[in-house]
Amino acid sequence: MRRLGVLLSGRGSNFEAIARAIGEGRLEAAIAVVISNKAEAAGLETARLMGFSAVAIPSKGVERARHDALVADELERHGVDLVCLAGYMRLLTPALIKRYPERILNIHPSLLPAFPGLDAQKQAWEHGVRVAGCTVHLVNEALDAGPIVMQAAVPVLETDTIESLSHRILAEEHRIYSQAIARVLRGGWRVDGRRIVWE
Ligand code: GRF
Repeated sequence: MRRLGVLLSGRGSNFEAIARAIGEGRLEAAIAVVISNKAEAAGLETARLMGFSAVAIPSKGVERARHDALVADELERHGVDLVCLAGYMRLLTPALIKRYPERILNIHPSLLPAFPGLDAQKQAWEHGVRVAGCTVHLVNEALDAGPIVMQAAVPVLETDTIESLSHRILAEEHRIYSQAIARVLRGGWRVDGRRIVWE
């Protein structure tokens, strides 16, 4: 059974969707540990209540390299094979990425490369796009920029507000993240430049 390490900073609904997919047999994996840089993250409390190892490694006032080293140690202690960022509001240091080469995924609420960074749904809505969506990608050293594993598109309706659009995008995030994890764990792929080639 492949072991996942989930990193989150907030609500944790993507983490819950991954846990649900495992529980329902749609994703063959185990959540080895949930780590948050914020001790008060709701997702960490949920993880605890669900019986997972839930670890806070506060980042405030801690040097970035030191914090990531602590995170990497914790992931290794739990024998993590694949790291899943799920609303983890930090850029990873090259040192952490090197410890998990091509084994860190992120979910972002836009059709990358459009609208990287914060408030992606708001950026998309304000830009007036007709199609929004979400992206699961491998994590590299740049923000929201690694090779794309999976995307889902969501139409922007005339009646949409930022909230209703975000809500519809989130439902797609919950649907594709576990599918993308399953696909990556299945193997038979390689990275060619920016592209993931499925063999
Ligand atoms: C999601 O929209 C995700 O795409 C982004 O941060 C948000 C996290 O939400 N990276 P949640 O904590 O999973 O509910």
